[in-house]
Amino acid sequence: MIQTMTFKEMILQGIPHHLPSKKSRDDKFSHAPKRKDILTPAEKKLAIANALRYFPASWHAELIHEFVEELKLYGRIYMYRFMPDYEIYARPIHEYPAQSKQAAAIMLMIQNNLDPAVAQHPQELITYGGNGAVFQNWAQYLITMKYLAQIADTQTLHMYSGHPMGIFPSSIDAPRVVVTNGMMIPNYSKPEDWERYNAMGVTQYGQMTAGSYMYIGPQGIVHGTTITVMNAFRKKLGPGVSPNGKIFLTAGLGGMSGAQPKAGNIAGCITVCAEVNASAAIKRFEQGWVDKLTHTLDELIDIVKVAVSNKEVVSIAYVGNVIDVWERFDTENISVDLGSDQTSLHNPWAGGYYPVGLSFEEANEMMANDPAQFKTAVQASLRRHANAINKHTSKGTYFFDYGNAFLLEASRANADVMHDNHIDFKYPSYVQDILGPMCFDYGFGPFRWVCTSGSHDDLKRTDQIAATVLESMLANAPASIAQQLQDNITWINEAEKNKLVVGSKARILYADAEGRAKIAAAFNEAIGNGIITAPVVIGRDHHDVSGTDSPYRETSNIYDGSKFTADMSIHNVIGDSFRGATWVSIHNGGGVGWGEVSNGGFGLVLDGTDASKTKLESMLFYDVNNGIARRAWARNSGSLEAIEREMKRSPDLTVTMPNLVDEKLLQQIQ
Ligand SMILES: NC(=O)c1ccc[n+]([C@@H]2O[C@H](COP(=O)([O-])OP(=O)(O)OC[C@H]3O[C@@H](n4cnc5c(N)ncnc54)[C@H](O)[C@@H]3O)[C@@H](O)[C@H]2O)c1
Repeated sequence: MIQTMTFKEMILQGIPHHLPSKKSRDDKFSHAPKRKDILTPAEKKLAIANALRYFPASWHAELIHEFVEELKLYGRIYMYRFMPDYEIYARPIHEYPAQSKQAAAIMLMIQNNLDPAVAQHPQELITYGGNGAVFQNWAQYLITMKYLAQIADTQTLHMYSGHPMGIFPSSIDAPRVVVTNGMMIPNYSKPEDWERYNAMGVTQYGQMTAGSYMYIGPQGIVHGTTITVMNAFRKKLGPGVSPNGKIFLTAGLGGMSGAQPKAGNIAGCITVCAEVNASAAIKRFEQGWVDKLTHTLDELIDIVKVAVSNKEVVSIAYVGNVIDVWERFDTENISVDLGSDQTSLHNPWAGGYYPVGLSFEEANEMMANDPAQFKTAVQASLRRHANAINKHTSKGTYFFDYGNAFLLEASRANADVMHDNHIDFKYPSYVQDILGPMCFDYGFGPFRWVCTSGSHDDLKRTDQIAATVLESMLANAPASIAQQLQDNITWINEAEKNKLVVGSKARILYADAEGRAKIAAAFNEAIGNGIITAPVVIGRDHHDVSGTDSPYRETSNIYDGSKFTADMSIHNVIGDSFRGATWVSIHNGGGVGWGEVSNGGFGLVLDGTDASKTKLESMLFYDVNNGIARRAWARNSGSLEAIEREMKRSPDLTVTMPNLVDEKLLQQIQ
């Protein structure tokens, strides 16, 4: 008789006691592109030895051929044979075998990141962004889940780029898990290095919320994109002017970029979004994330002209290359109000950006078989892309870089994107112009939470609690932050209606230090008195006021020269770890690419106790104000105001303030 194991037993088993039979990957899922064949024969042997060390020696003779084959076929060893037989999704917390509630919550968050309904390439353990990995292989997943089931509240699990190095004794106040992803010696942190060391199985690219177990599906990005598009229109059209019938032209209907049409609809404009991969575009259309789909430029032009004359709020996906749209809109004299781009230029040579003039299939073939020619084609395409955008901006389009390294890669390709001073780009990043001065400088950033009960009613209760807190803050808020509070009150009141939950019962909004702490404290109280039925995990995206040093994105509006330093993100993760975070993470790369950014995050499990209250107050205060302090020292006016206000509220806080120098004095220097 075949004994079937329960979910709990399978988790507790870790690596199976008996070698499971071989499994193939399932074609019904989207799979990661074949990675570059970069290893020398000696390095390939090392990669195989590295993979085999997870298993008993008696299995090696059988596994070795399979791993050699995986490395050859996919450029990585995923260990498909060890994919679990149970379904992976965020189960209610009580279903996880665990000694520690905190660890059970982390298991839920990990499984959410790998849920096929949530993850981009679930069988390659990739959550989003093409290469944002939770683990490098299935052995790491199995061992980590087992460790989390065993760990006590006086121990800490240390994760090295997906590899569970071990459980170490610590204390009840220490984080349960410490995560690093892709941390490299700085001189070995080029994209080629990622390809090499990831293929060897010794590092991984964790993106932001993939390798830190904090992804909540597309909701997070819909919110951030909505805030960006709304504020971009306010900038372009002036406050209070409706964006109805105005065009937002952009590209990408992938993991995060797929949020653009929905955000455009919430903001109230016409969104035109080009996507070269037909299946990605069709998926978004079938999910209802974009209203219309067309495969021809002629039809696109017809739809857009009607939408403009009727002042419609509509989103349109065009299956094809975005450069063709920019160029055709120019010859048709269609006026684009907002322009951006969300192709994956953080990953330009391995499928993030498709050159114009080649079909999707032709480009994929060239990428695998002739990487040098592909690189040349991408760079030529970027030059043409920039020329087309420049024609529109000369007619009044407001173009912003959407944190996908578009301007960075375009400049590296010698495209016409540099300012006359040859130092800056001619276009701002969305953080420089929009999110930085309007949100981050005041501490507003992507605060999020997950109800571990899995109960929709709990989520509704948290929405109500959060709305009440923000409304009470708005009553006494300074004018400089009233618009942000109001936008987020509107958002949270409509969140239920917008049906944005995919995977775990999660919610997001932007709040400042005071708002985050007040909302978290109110949740904690509601858990304590049973109004919310199980612990709530709080956290944030790394795309925030603090935590992330990213000179072309999160910290692109830092102008004192320090945007190329990474002290703030390192302080954030260390500071959060001893102030009560349940887990902390620090990543090399995230969003804009390997070597380009240092970013950190945290998760904190609220369980309704006084200990949770102390932790949330201390940790959230530091987590946000560390970033504001750094922005204030860089002389950002919003942050100077915000940190002065915080010092008045908090007598224990002393931040070093800059003395501003008179510009006229500086002009005397030759
Ligand atoms: N700053 C932010 O808030 C923010 C938000 C979202 C995304 N991003 C960045 O945007 C990028 C996209 O993220 P994603 O998760 O959607 O990645 P993704 O790889 O899932 O999607 C990108 C899509 O662009 C398409 N594409 C590539 N080249 C194209 C071209 N020339 N014309 C038309 N379509 C093309 C691809 O087929 C793909 O589907 C990343 O670099 C990410 O870091 C930043």
